[in-house]
Amino acid sequence: MEILVINGPNLNMLGTREPDIYGSDTYEDLCNMISEHCEKEGINVSFFQSNHEGSIVDRIQEALTDGTDGIVINPAAYTHTSVAILDALKAVRIPTVEVHISDVDEREEFRKHSFVSLIALETIKGKGFEGYLMAVDFLKNYIADERSAD
Ligand code: DQA
Repeated sequence: MEILVINGPNLNMLGTREPDIYGSDTYEDLCNMISEHCEKEGINVSFFQSNHEGSIVDRIQEALTDGTDGIVINPAAYTHTSVAILDALKAVRIPTVEVHISDVDEREEFRKHSFVSLIALETIKGKGFEGYLMAVDFLKNYIADERSAD
């Protein structure tokens, strides 16, 4: 099983960026934590982080032909603005789970709306880095169920 983890703008600055909200662990720590979890679960994982909306759209499109079975995405600020990322996810039709490190519902009003939620099978928010592991587990079960139904 191949899972692609996509992180949007400013998530490369985890650890220094607003640590009171996002914690003091870095983006590298996040990737290591997810890699270790995936290794235990027998999942192949790859990572993509970009500060550019079009690059994220391009990477989602590539997932159609690179064997990706499931996508975990934290679109960061693009969550609240990007119809292009929503449309890319709709186009590839790869099972997707949305993750937010913070609880976006408990913050500013503008963070309460997510375009990606319209396509995501599940949205996990406010669970810190652990939310990514929960998303991986959700996809693992979902994809296994889909395969056994075939
Ligand atoms: C975020 C929440 C977004 O509102 C914000 O723009 C981010 C990170 C989160 O993980 O909590 O950059 O997606």
